[in-house]
Amino acid sequence: MKKICIIEGHPDNLKKHFCHALADEYEIGAKSEGHEVVRINVADLEFDALKSEEEYREGFIPDEISKSQKIILSSNHIVIIYPLWLGGMPSKLVAFFEQLMRPNFAYDADNMFDKKLKGKSAHLIVTMGMPAIIYKIFYGSHSIKGFITGVLKFVGISPVKTTFIGEVASKRTNHKKWLEKANEFGKNKPKLLGIF
Ligand SMILES: Cc1cc2nc3c(=O)[nH]c(=O)nc-3n(C[C@H](O)[C@H](O)[C@H](O)COP(=O)(O)O)c2cc1C
Repeated sequence: MKKICIIEGHPDNLKKHFCHALADEYEIGAKSEGHEVVRINVADLEFDALKSEEEYREGFIPDEISKSQKIILSSNHIVIIYPLWLGGMPSKLVAFFEQLMRPNFAYDADNMFDKKLKGKSAHLIVTMGMPAIIYKIFYGSHSIKGFITGVLKFVGISPVKTTFIGEVASKRTNHKKWLEKANEFGKNKPKLLGIF
């Protein structure tokens, strides 16, 4: 049994978005295989964005962030689901990761090569308005590559699987098929995913 943390990165918690439906299906699939699931809904968290390097290194860690850090520490697998905004993450999700990945939690403050989150894997599921192939080929998945290398792998989280769901507002996208896929991802059958 694995402990899976699903980070819901959609900043709007006033209405149910496709990202939330994907998270629901992922959780249903995971629980059906006996995995434990804990969700962090970033839109619900109350914290200020960091304003300085001093604050990042030595500042107060807001309660909601410290709770999230504990969940991450106790999880084997981290799923991050968000909509692509201006080519990257919505700003509240960026602010969440800036707060979360603090020195001595994510890596040793005196030795940045001492990665503190080794042994955990991740799966990024990103929805977008443009066709996924355009984001991958034409834009080279720039923000996602940067996040994987500069954040996740930097703190030891590897391997990282990615799933891009393009044209989410279009009828060309088969939403039902993607929800079924999210359920399958949650089941984490090793031969399908090869990441556990
Ligand atoms: C502020 C904002 C910026 C966006 N930027 C992009 C973008 O850079 N590339 C893209 O393909 N889609 C972009 N979109 C479209 C969203 O990615 C798309 O609407 C989202 O994945 C759909 O999820 P939702 O219906 O759950 O909000 C943007 C949407 C918003 C609101």
